[in-house]
Amino acid sequence: MLNGRSHPNRFFRNFIHKPRAIGAVLPASPSLSRAVAAAAGAALDALAPAQAPCGVLELGAGTGALTENIRHMQPVLIERDARFSDLLRSRFPELEIRNECAVQALDNLRQPVGIVSSIPLLNNPEAAELVQALERCYLAGLVRYLVLYTYGAFDPLRGTAVSRGRRAEVVWQSLPPASVWVYR
Ligand SMILES: C[S@@+](CC[C@H](N)C(=O)[O-])C[C@H]1O[C@@H](n2cnc3c(N)ncnc32)[C@H](O)[C@@H]1O
Repeated sequence: MLNGRSHPNRFFRNFIHKPRAIGAVLPASPSLSRAVAAAAGAALDALAPAQAPCGVLELGAGTGALTENIRHMQPVLIERDARFSDLLRSRFPELEIRNECAVQALDNLRQPVGIVSSIPLLNNPEAAELVQALERCYLAGLVRYLVLYTYGAFDPLRGTAVSRGRRAEVVWQSLPPASVWVYR
């Protein structure tokens, strides 16, 4: 039986097995989740009428800590870890959940979308591959907006093709404090 307390426990167990791919000891905090959802909602509202509505992809949905606050946007959830994918299916039966790699999901993209990502870009040996896939989609005009968070001090996509980023919020209540970045 899954309950609210099982998510941090499961998250921590997965972190022990794959620390760099998981990238954090605990799921995103409620305040960080709300900040990401607010940024995604504002990015959607700012789209020109011809560009909206568009679908939403959530990359690295994990335990669904962000999904909780963006589920009304009906995101398609992409999660590579099979156990997290099962957890997401039980928490969000109304959403499409794909147990696959985000790079593959981005390479298969054919329609423009908004993207919310939790996949770590710091200290993740696979980050370059993900950033390249994001760049390909961005340059192809398939990214309406991208929202991500980082525990680092700087723009995690500086120097890449996804250059039009701004820090939307610093969430000091998060441990460690996190920055929410929005790219268009
Ligand atoms: C920092 S965790 C955050 C998850 C979620 N925000 C939460 O708080 O529960 C990052 C997630 O990205 C997933 N992930 C890492 N690399 C991935 C990839 N290439 N494709 C899909 N998921 C990936 C990990 O399995 C993990 O669930």
